[in-house]
Amino acid sequence: MRFLSLTLLASAVAGFVVNQGSTCTLYPESLTHGGLPVDDVPSIHEAFNICGINGTVIFSNGTFNIATILNTTNLLNVDVILRGVLQFTDNIPYWRSHSWSVIFQNQVTAWLFGGTNVTLRGDGGWIDGHGQSWYTFSNNTANLPGRPITITVYNSTNVLIDSLTIIQPQFWAVFVWKSQNVSLTNYYTNATTNNAKYTTFNTDGFDSWNSDTILIENATITTNDDCVAAKGNTTNLYAKNVTCYGSTGMTIGSIGQYPATPDYVLNVTFEDVLCVGGLDCAYVKTWQSAALDVTTNGDAGGGGGGLVKNVTFRNFEVQDVGLPIQVTQCIYATASGQGCNTSNLALEDISWVNFTGTSKYNIAASMYCASNHPCPGIMFSDVNIDSVNATAGLPLYNTTLQTEVYQCDNIIGQNTSGIPCNHVAPAFFSQAVTKNVQ
Ligand SMILES: *[C@@H]1O[C@H](CO)[C@@H](O)[C@H](O)[C@H]1NC(C)=O
Ligand SMILES: *[C@@H]1O[C@H](CO)[C@@H](O)[C@H](O)[C@H]1NC(C)=O
Ligand SMILES: *[C@@H]1O[C@H](CO)[C@@H](O)[C@H](O)[C@H]1NC(C)=O
Ligand SMILES: *[C@@H]1O[C@H](CO)[C@@H](O)[C@H](O)[C@H]1NC(C)=O
Ligand SMILES: *[C@@H]1O[C@H](CO)[C@@H](O)[C@H](O)[C@H]1NC(C)=O
Ligand SMILES: *[C@@H]1O[C@H](CO)[C@@H](O)[C@H](O)[C@H]1NC(C)=O
Ligand SMILES: *[C@@H]1O[C@H](CO)[C@@H](O)[C@H](O)[C@H]1NC(C)=O
Ligand SMILES: *[C@@H]1O[C@H](CO)[C@@H](O)[C@H](O)[C@H]1NC(C)=O
Ligand SMILES: *[C@@H]1O[C@H](CO)[C@@H](O)[C@H](O)[C@H]1NC(C)=O
Ligand SMILES: *[C@@H]1O[C@H](CO)[C@@H](O)[C@H](O)[C@H]1NC(C)=O
Ligand SMILES: *[C@@H]1O[C@H](CO)[C@@H](O)[C@H](O)[C@H]1NC(C)=O
Ligand SMILES: *[C@@H]1O[C@H](CO)[C@@H](O)[C@H](O)[C@H]1NC(C)=O
Repeated sequence: MRFLSLTLLASAVAGFVVNQGSTCTLYPESLTHGGLPVDDVPSIHEAFNICGINGTVIFSNGTFNIATILNTTNLLNVDVILRGVLQFTDNIPYWRSHSWSVIFQNQVTAWLFGGTNVTLRGDGGWIDGHGQSWYTFSNNTANLPGRPITITVYNSTNVLIDSLTIIQPQFWAVFVWKSQNVSLTNYYTNATTNNAKYTTFNTDGFDSWNSDTILIENATITTNDDCVAAKGNTTNLYAKNVTCYGSTGMTIGSIGQYPATPDYVLNVTFEDVLCVGGLDCAYVKTWQSAALDVTTNGDAGGGGGGLVKNVTFRNFEVQDVGLPIQVTQCIYATASGQGCNTSNLALEDISWVNFTGTSKYNIAASMYCASNHPCPGIMFSDVNIDSVNATAGLPLYNTTLQTEVYQCDNIIGQNTSGIPCNHVAPAFFSQAVTKNVQ
């Protein structure tokens, strides 16, 4: 007994929590089990039960084995300090059958977290989602049912997550749901596959839904999907100083998936962003009006209404990005273009300001609004993107279009928008540009 002056709680379910006043310090179960990876979740729940109101929960410096779902919600005035490593197991059948529903898109999460006046600070520790097993198992199937989000901030007010590192997230890394006043500062996440055959689809760095007043500041995100995505009913989101590697960028969307629940995305600013490589960087994507392809989890839908208004993408640098800027109203329509011109969702007052850098091919922007909803207030100011080849003085191969393409359609006031439109945008244009536009 090393903690004679303290209370060592060792009930039938809970293992290793040391409680002193309002502070609960967690030690890995493996320390008392000869190094065996015993599940630490019962003792984690015990710590939050004891110290989850007006308290502090400290994960000490060690490796915690997260083998079962975590629910640490309804906290009140709590500081959580992460000095150790939270290592999620890769028991895929378990997680697929037990993870908590987040309702949206029938997705699930391994950890529900939050409350009122809560901080979660990385202090030398991090989260390891053991995502490689999911990247391999899902075998490039998008939105595999039961593939869990690493951590979901739920039903919360006044949450600060600072210096959090998540490596190899299982699915989306951080999701904010039904919450307000949530800040994510000094954040690092990195989903990198060890086998190019298995991509890291769906490892979004950050997503928010039905949430208001969100700050993301100083983040470095490596993913093969959205870097930061404001989904339906995200309002007053401000993202600043974000570096995105290999991603599909900073996005509003996808929205308009469900006819019963319109999506309003208002007052969003993305500022001081660097996109390195990847397919996209600064865009707005809505579902088509007709529900197509209803076969895959999360990929089914379309026809939802709503409004996107007052969005600014400011001070961006793009390096070798496939399609740096896009507006699409039928992101999943496929080449048929069905439902591209009958959107129930309106887009207004969206600006791209001060963009520099390079596109991978000969296209900088594809701006297409549904013909039944031409978009007002779409503005470019100081957008200067040129292809990598042109920048290097090389020709663009297999195309007659040697001038950077800015394609537009159904943009109200196109001539005064500041967009150097030089082509007509097709109704459907994939976010995945893989060659020069012809
Ligand atoms: C928590 O702290 C608040 C304010 O300091 C106090 O009003 C409340 O009674 C405390 N709650 C508990 C359960 O200690
Ligand atoms: C999570 O725990 C809280 C109690 O802290 C409980 O009210 C809530 O129902 C639990 N959530 C789920 C999804 O079971
Ligand atoms: C949350 O913190 C704020 C600011 O410190 C305080 O005014 C408020 O009472 C706290 N909320 C609760 C439920 O304790
Ligand atoms: C945690 O322990 C490791 C190994 O003992 C050490 O290298 C590291 O600096 C410690 N981290 C903190 C935050 O104390
Ligand atoms: C992965 O998908 C490819 C293409 O659908 C298929 O050929 C292959 O057998 C799958 N691999 C595994 C391990 O399921
Ligand atoms: C949501 O949080 C409030 C406190 O802000 C609490 O009263 C309510 O029970 C929570 N709802 C759920 C489902 O946990
Ligand atoms: C930005 O966040 C990174 C972690 O991703 C951290 O190492 C760095 O110190 C932060 N910068 C500042 C100015 O806090
Ligand atoms: C992400 O992780 C990979 C693999 O560990 C590493 O090579 C890469 O440098 C990391 N990216 C960043 C931005 O830290
Ligand atoms: C901005 O981001 C860069 C790159 O991630 C980081 O090094 C720097 O510390 C950040 N600056 C601030 C003020 O957060
Ligand atoms: C968004 O909020 C509106 C009310 O402002 C509501 O009608 C709608 O159902 C919400 N959408 C979602 C996706 O929850
Ligand atoms: C958008 O910002 C304006 C100006 O700050 C504010 O008046 C308005 O309430 C905000 N809209 C929403 C939905 O929060
Ligand atoms: C637009 O949103 C920004 C925050 O992103 C806010 O500062 C501004 O006041 C809003 N403008 C209007 C007209 O609502």
